[in-house]
This record gives sequence, C-alpha cells and structure tokens, in this order.
Amino acid sequence: MIKIALSIVLLSTLIFANEYTAEDRIKDMQELDTAMSLIQKGFMYSELSYIKEGVQGIKDNAISVEPPIKGDEKHYKKNETFSYKYTKRETARMIVHADDIIQDFENGDEKQALNTYTKMMKQCMSCHSRIREW
Ligand code: HEC
Repeated sequence: MIKIALSIVLLSTLIFANEYTAEDRIKDMQELDTAMSLIQKGFMYSELSYIKEGVQGIKDNAISVEPPIKGDEKHYKKNETFSYKYTKRETARMIVHADDIIQDFENGDEKQALNTYTKMMKQCMSCHSRIREW
C-alpha cells in the first residue's frame, strides 16, 4: 500500500516537474543573480567561500532553466522563444565556467577568474538580448 502511495506521489512529482512556468523561470533567474553577486563579493573580499557558494548557486539553478513554452512568448522580442537545445547549451556553458572560476581562484589567478566570470556574464546577456524587448 505504502509503495503504491509512494509511486503515485513520485509520478505526480514527475508530471508537475514538467510544468516549468514563467514564475519558476523568474525565480531561477533571481537565484542566478544572487549567485553572481556572491561570486563578485568573493572577488572583492578575496574570500573563496563566497565564490564557492555563488558557484554552487549557479549550478543548482542553471540546471533547471527551461525555455519559454507556447503562451509565454507574448512579451518576448518578435514572439521569440528559444529552443530547448539552445537553453541547455547556454546553461551547460555557465556551469562549466562556474567550476573554472573556483579552479582559477584556487590557483591564485584572480585575473583569469575574473575573465571567466565575465564569460559567464556574457552567457546570461546573450540569452537576454536575444529575447528581451525591454
Ligand atoms: C537560456 C536563456 C537565459 C539564460 C542563459 C539566462 N537567462 Fe536570465 N532570463 C531569461 C528570461 C527568458 C528572462 C525573463 C523572464 C520573464 O520575465 O518571464 C530572464 C530574466 C532574468 C532576470 C530578471 C528576473 C525578474 O525578476 O524579472 C534576472 C535577474 C536574470 N534573468 C538573471 C540571469 C543571470 C544572472 C543569468 C546568468 C548567470 C541568466 N539570467 C541567464 C533567460 C535566460
């Protein structure tokens, strides 16, 4: 009985997990923004723990970002919705860069860490400038 109940819970979680809403996206975006600020704070205070926390925030939230679905696109540029593949490629790049930042910083190469941070910021902006009308 418990097993059946558990499977129903699991199944409904899976079904609902597919419904990635505009609100979910905005929440993920705000978390990404907080994570970027934390990394920047890590640079300013020369504090690896902030950088690590920020990088974790990027990894945790970038992974779940999904493209807008039909009906979401009204407020995007020229009704632009971006493809699933594009979204996953951009966010995967962000995750790779995020890890590199820790690596660079641990190697004492703050300049390279900052370059990598900028690359990641470009990833954010390339998606935003593609879809934003505002
Ligand atoms: C794959 C595309 C994509 C990438 C990559 C992306 N974003 Fe976004 N972002 C969006 C979309 C779409 C919106 C608009 C959400 C809306 O208003 O419906 C948005 C909106 C935002 C907002 C505004 C949220 C609000 O409350 O209105 C912030 C902040 C943000 N993104 C931060 C980031 C940061 C930081 C990164 C990089 C670490 C990033 N985004 C990368 C697609 C992306």
